[in-house]
Amino acid sequence: MSVTAIIGMQWGDEGKGKIVDALGEEANIVARCQGGGNAGHTVVISGKIFKLHLIPSGILRENAIAVIGNGVAFDPVKACAEIDGLEEKGIKTAGRLFISDRAHIVMPYHKILDGLREESRGKANLGTTRQGIGPTYGDKAARCGLRGHHLVDVANFPTLVKERVAEANKQIEFMGGEKIDADAMLAEIMPAVEKLRPYITDTVELLQDALDADKNILLEGAQGAMLDIDFGTYPFLTSSNTTTGGCATGSGIPPWAIKEVHGVLKAFTTRVGTGPFPTELAGEQAELLRGSGKNHWDEFGTTTGRARRCGWLDLVVARYSTRINGITNLHITKMDIMSTFDEIKICTGYTIDGKPIKGFPSSLDVLEKCQPVYEVFPGWKQDISQCKSISDLPEGAQKYLKLISKHCGVPVTSASIGPGREQTLF
Ligand code: GDP
Ligand code: IMO
Ligand code: MG
Repeated sequence: MSVTAIIGMQWGDEGKGKIVDALGEEANIVARCQGGGNAGHTVVISGKIFKLHLIPSGILRENAIAVIGNGVAFDPVKACAEIDGLEEKGIKTAGRLFISDRAHIVMPYHKILDGLREESRGKANLGTTRQGIGPTYGDKAARCGLRGHHLVDVANFPTLVKERVAEANKQIEFMGGEKIDADAMLAEIMPAVEKLRPYITDTVELLQDALDADKNILLEGAQGAMLDIDFGTYPFLTSSNTTTGGCATGSGIPPWAIKEVHGVLKAFTTRVGTGPFPTELAGEQAELLRGSGKNHWDEFGTTTGRARRCGWLDLVVARYSTRINGITNLHITKMDIMSTFDEIKICTGYTIDGKPIKGFPSSLDVLEKCQPVYEVFPGWKQDISQCKSISDLPEGAQKYLKLISKHCGVPVTSASIGPGREQTLF
């Protein structure tokens, strides 16, 4: 039996989709455990680009089945559109996709509330993806959410929805929004609900049986450790546990069964939306990291199209992330993007008033006072996108990987030199 978690170590978009695909060759099951339509995972296979939001990237591996676990905020309308898109590209989902009957359902009113809350925050907005994630997890914690099993309860579902809409309307009205009509909303979502009913099942039982049968299971993280509701840069983060703990609670797989935790770390740092970012760059260097937007891998959000903020690699973040996740293996992505720089900086620590600090600050006021300490590397200035092994990489690139590994105390399992499936050097 082998259960491996794949976790984003920064603020999301590290290349998790690509690494899940790369590790997916031997997988029997790929499961998502948290997040929802806020995620955007890109996988490139033989030049074909797949952008996944809710469906696990493992659906692209013929040998694997895909599971949407109980911890996911599940949007039926969005999922249906994604299933249709996959089927158009020849990827079958019937009998290969299983949705948890315990997953909380993102309803249209959650998205409205997400937008209204963002508007009411004005300049202090969180920059959410407006996919209804916060309000859905809010209802989960407040114990008034709807779950997968409610979708299959044909007789009671409409009544339940009407009750919830009445409650949601109170909040919507209070926030100055336009009340929604329950019947119209039902008409809007019912085609998706009906289509998805056959996919809904007890995924806890499914995964437990797979454990008993010694199957290979990959747990596909969404977002990244710095967006974790407990460990991230609160309140500028998402509403789920994006770290390894969330893999267990979001799937029903016991923590001890997770034998390896593979951390995906981009060779530089990006973040979408607002919130602190100690190594953020502006100007030409940021633009070199971001790219022009012409390539699909340039730093523009998969879900929202927003330009991502870019900066140097932050090893304070990488080390913190390694420790809270129990990372056992590192995958360093987008090494090719670093090839253009004459000089590369890596942040190896923070100081406040000249004194080094330990760990990652909980308070944003403290974080604001932190000064990054940089180590400067000469760039390797060489196209590495055709390298066939890590030992083919220029010395500078190998040193870069070694410094990351040393700082985190974990070996580098792969370095990624392009978006393609074959551009991963193990
Ligand atoms: P995820 O959310 O962590 O799955 O990451 P995204 O898919 O949102 O963003 C990563 C982007 O970088 C995608 O377009 C990937 O195809 C691309 N990508 C992944 N690894 C590499 C790499 O090593 N080099 C380049 N140039 N692109 C990469
Ligand atoms: P993947 O899985 C990058 C960010 C949003 C916002 C904050 C809260 O592709 O790495 P939310 O809609 O979750 O309430 O937004 O979290 N965010 C992400 N940033 N990648 C993601 O997912 C993200 N999912 C959410 O930009 O700052
Ligand atoms: Mg993404």
